Amino acid sequence: GRVAVLYGGPAGEREVSLESGRNVLEALQAQGIDVVGIDAMPGTLPAQLQASGAQRVFNMLHGRFGEDGVVQGCLETLGLPYTGSGVLASSLAMDKLRSKWLWHGAGLPTPEFRIVRGETADWTELVAVLGLPLMVKPIREGSSLGISKVNALEALPAAVAEARRFDDTVIIERFIKGQETTVGILERQPLPVIRLETAREFYDYTAKYLADDTRYLIPSGLGETVERRLQELALQAFDALGCSGWGRVDFMVDEAGQPWLLEINTVPGMTSHSLVPMAAKAAGIDFATLTRRILAGAQC
Ligand code: DAL
Ligand code: MG
Repeated sequence: GRVAVLYGGPAGEREVSLESGRNVLEALQAQGIDVVGIDAMPGTLPAQLQASGAQRVFNMLHGRFGEDGVVQGCLETLGLPYTGSGVLASSLAMDKLRSKWLWHGAGLPTPEFRIVRGETADWTELVAVLGLPLMVKPIREGSSLGISKVNALEALPAAVAEARRFDDTVIIERFIKGQETTVGILERQPLPVIRLETAREFYDYTAKYLADDTRYLIPSGLGETVERRLQELALQAFDALGCSGWGRVDFMVDEAGQPWLLEINTVPGMTSHSLVPMAAKAAGIDFATLTRRILAGAQC
């Protein structure tokens, strides 16, 4: 039956999602699959889906609405099988705070943090507890939108104000000095580890999509023991949130080689700069095969 690729949408990651979605749409089309693209918007999505005649959904919406359980609930209601995680896991994974609580409860390592709900807090005490530098993050965003690395106490209030433009709950996280790494997951199997190197403060929106000097290392150079540990932890973190189908688990690896969980993306990017397609390729899975295997996991 016909497949609808959902992309675009209302979230801050709209542009990223449009590129991811177009790539998936073209790859499925080239394989002879009957496919239609839908720029999914709140209010109109159920009617768009019904008008499309689609019988299955390939969800490429990033961020709020499309990646946080809302669209997943709509698809369940319409009885349409869809790619990726279900309602609860999507909601949890979109929320960095609740993800960290669950991982902490499950005994999985995630950097120490504090919650800031208002505009002010005892900044001096936060710095005393978490040290410097530290990371400031809106709890429900993607592609590093609203995230800052803070190197000085004086810069903390402005970083929190910036993060609050994206979410009224913000976390301040201990900065793990070391390597940024990621592990894609396909059909509950971890893909090869990728390590990111950027000349910027961290792997931010610019380093992710705009810079041409970001380096992607596969193998990661961290050695087999650390890579195996990362892949094992990625799967445990995925299962702790109840994720399914495919996804990508992001980590910092500290200077002692200890991995720390940052977050899970339940609809990882599929752009030309994105990491799951790179990791899949390193595992011998080309982009077309990747899209077909993700689609095969569509459930309801
Ligand atoms: N949130 C972006 C799309 C990613 O994780 O790849
Ligand atoms: Mg993310």
